[in-house]
Amino acid sequence: MKSFSTLLLALCSLRQVQAFRHNNLQVLAGVHVVYSYSGTTPPAELTTLIEEGLVGGVILFGNNVNSSLPAIIESWQTAYANSPAYIGSPLLIMTDQEGGKVRRLPGGPTESEKAIGESSDPEQAASQAGSDAAAALGAYNMNTNLAPVLDVFRTPGDFDDQYQRSYSDNATLAGICGAAFTAAQQAAGYIATAKHFPGLGSASADENTDEVPVTLNVTIDEIRSIDEMPYHNAIAAGIDMVMPSWALYPDFDDEYPSGLSEKWLKQELRGRLGFRGVTISDAIEAGALTAFGSDSDRAVLASGAGMDIILAAAQNVTQGQTIVQALVDALNSRTLDRAEFDEGTRRILALRNKISA
Ligand SMILES: *[C@@H]1O[C@H](CO)[C@@H](O)[C@H](O)[C@H]1NC(C)=O
Ligand SMILES: *[C@@H]1O[C@H](CO)[C@@H](O)[C@H](O)[C@H]1NC(C)=O
Ligand SMILES: *[C@@H]1O[C@H](CO)[C@@H](O)[C@H](O)[C@H]1NC(C)=O
Ligand SMILES: *[C@@H]1O[C@H](CO)[C@@H](O)[C@H](O)[C@H]1NC(C)=O
Repeated sequence: MKSFSTLLLALCSLRQVQAFRHNNLQVLAGVHVVYSYSGTTPPAELTTLIEEGLVGGVILFGNNVNSSLPAIIESWQTAYANSPAYIGSPLLIMTDQEGGKVRRLPGGPTESEKAIGESSDPEQAASQAGSDAAAALGAYNMNTNLAPVLDVFRTPGDFDDQYQRSYSDNATLAGICGAAFTAAQQAAGYIATAKHFPGLGSASADENTDEVPVTLNVTIDEIRSIDEMPYHNAIAAGIDMVMPSWALYPDFDDEYPSGLSEKWLKQELRGRLGFRGVTISDAIEAGALTAFGSDSDRAVLASGAGMDIILAAAQNVTQGQTIVQALVDALNSRTLDRAEFDEGTRRILALRNKISA
């Protein structure tokens, strides 16, 4: 234990150690929350929150993007670095730059995952896509991509395949491509995210967790032999983040969707698959979670299950603030375990330290 905490302190800057010592729960909870807003003009409240150190990062969507955005992002990082609550490393600024139809920024990857999987040299094409994604993020001063999709589609036209978001129905090939994309993008200095763990490849076209609760009646044996296969490759390639899905897989956990499930996050992802990085949620307001209360209730449930970062993706700054406060309240009431929460904070800060250069 002693050598472990010494190692953690070595990974943290002085400012980060001070934040823990001062026990500033608002600042520490803020590290766990990614905010969003609507349109090309960021709300003044967001800048204020960044200066106060209550923001862990921002997710950008297509309607946020115009040529003013790179300068806006740079101004956030400067405002944050000048804040008394600065924790010593940059905000996570992220988007979905998957490739093909799912690209929020101008630039590559122009090819879809499906086209890459079907190309003559899929591994090389996936590596090129990872480099292209890095270039697109870099042009906008972003540091984090919510890609690659590691889902292994089952049927032409199903949930992933309808938008060509899956490399292949061959899990081995999907794993090779996902790892190549990850290695290339991360080597360029940009954080990659494998999604949607353990996989949405068996979902049909209308089983969209953004909209409705989704139950996937696939056995744990099939999940492990097909859907999870690419995670072995991506974890071996050092993938920085994993985004769990909001689907329910009753054969393994019949109560909680993957992203709210201690069994999925702790037992399967960290335990069995050996993932050591950061977990980030899909949109906390997703229609899949209607049975689990308000955004705040969901965020506390997810955090308690082992979700490090909560994505407040409703393009509403109040949503992020409400979630930060809910995490603070849950820590104060001991609904959330402080030691486990701190482990998550350290994982996030270790990741952010990677992109500080
Ligand atoms: C981007 O949007 C903002 C806010 O609407 C606007 O002020 C600015 O002129 C736009 N920039 C460009 C280059 O279109
Ligand atoms: C799946 O892909 C791998 C890697 O390209 C290949 O070796 C294997 O033959 C493929 N399996 C099938 C059933 O096509
Ligand atoms: C999955 O199983 C549940 C419970 O047995 C059932 O209600 C549901 O219809 C099944 N879904 C599919 C797509 O087979
Ligand atoms: C923004 O989020 C808050 C808290 O989640 C919610 O109460 C409010 O209705 C939302 N506002 C809009 C415009 O969606």
